[in-house]
Amino acid sequence: MLPTMSQAARVVSTAAAKSRGKGLLGRHLAALHGSRRAMASTSDDYLILEQRYNAHNYHPLPVVLSKGKGVMVWDVEGKQYFDWLSAYSAVNQGHCHPKIVGALVDQAQKLTLASRAFSTDCLGEFALYVTAYFGYDRILPMNTGVEGGETAIKLARRWGYDVKGVEENKAHVVFAENNFWGRTLAAVSSSTDPESYNGYGPYMPGFSTVPYNDVAALEKRLASNPNTVAFMVEPIQGEAGVVVPDDGYMAKVHEVCRRHKVLLIADEVQTGLCRAGTDLACDHDGVRPDILVLGKALSGGVYPVSAVLADDEIMLTVKPGQHGSTYGGNPMACRVATAALEVLREEGMAENACLMGERLRAGLRSLNAPGVELIRGRGLLNAVVVKDDRGDGTKAWDMCLDLKEKGLLAKPTHGNIIRLAPPLCITADQIDASLDIMSSVLTKA
Ligand SMILES: Cc1ncc(COP(=O)(O)O)c(C=O)c1O
Repeated sequence: MLPTMSQAARVVSTAAAKSRGKGLLGRHLAALHGSRRAMASTSDDYLILEQRYNAHNYHPLPVVLSKGKGVMVWDVEGKQYFDWLSAYSAVNQGHCHPKIVGALVDQAQKLTLASRAFSTDCLGEFALYVTAYFGYDRILPMNTGVEGGETAIKLARRWGYDVKGVEENKAHVVFAENNFWGRTLAAVSSSTDPESYNGYGPYMPGFSTVPYNDVAALEKRLASNPNTVAFMVEPIQGEAGVVVPDDGYMAKVHEVCRRHKVLLIADEVQTGLCRAGTDLACDHDGVRPDILVLGKALSGGVYPVSAVLADDEIMLTVKPGQHGSTYGGNPMACRVATAALEVLREEGMAENACLMGERLRAGLRSLNAPGVELIRGRGLLNAVVVKDDRGDGTKAWDMCLDLKEKGLLAKPTHGNIIRLAPPLCITADQIDASLDIMSSVLTKA
């Protein structure tokens, strides 16, 4: 990712040079000392502030957004863009969906947080709604996707000891290679990406990985370790570059897990909630995982809400005081998530994702772009694999800069892969207009 960083540094240093004359640095230093607020107004100003005062844990495309509506976003200069990232699939319902924002505003004026020390008039109703929606006995609400993953693994370990009868401290969890489920120590302990785990050891014990889309490898691993309590897997690997497994993979995985008395944890934080053209990506194979992890679009991008769903045998192994979060299941989260789920059904977003995804892939394939190696995806979770003829991963980044100039925002993942995941309310006309922009960039030599 070096080119990415140097690109960002170039943008920022140019911006810094430009704004020095306007005294912005002086103003934000004044802000630092509390005498007044920095008065940033241009994209360059905001980029400087972020670069100077924020941790450098991301390398964003140099665009500064201040407004969003549906599929569109606007930068601080008022330039309009198609959003083809949807905040990594959190904004499935479209930016600032009025029903979801309405639920947030309404509840924010009544009660925002009670902690789980007390009950509220929101949690029980939400729990009933969401368990009926997905067909599970219970929900355990959390905030971020990674907390959902942590919760699922804790539940599986607990079930392993209490139900499966695994000897204390021997529980083992298997993950797929190239998984991504967040940035906590447990998440990076299961990662096979050195960028994620290097420098953060020592790692969580009791984890191992098997190749993705390889049922035989999983079977062998489970057979070799009777202490295995769970296999955690994404039905489509999002961050790895929208890697779609063979049809039937999840069904075979579930069957193997069942035979070895191992729980199947489906991480649907990115693939779920209509993104892949069905309510859950697991539906494609007709699979109901033992533990389901949801996040991101569970709030339509309005609030951090995640959830773990499971049946009593698993969920009731955790007793009061043994797991939780101050904000988990708070009133705003409950109301927002209910509205976000309603919108998915009311607006037929799974069907639209399915249809628009087919239109997109057909349109992209018809370009016969010489610089494109592969187009893959399901529903509106897609990727263009760019031929990395420079061998340094900069081509996809440069294409994304070009797309941005032409009014379309997308971001590379893993060097030469451009993920294409717009909000699920996108129309056929918007797909076609976006394809025109993509064509002008992808078909360049
Ligand atoms: C499949 C998957 N699981 C979990 C996560 C973590 O979610 P969060 O960033 O909300 O912690 C992500 C984030 O991209 C993800 O793609």
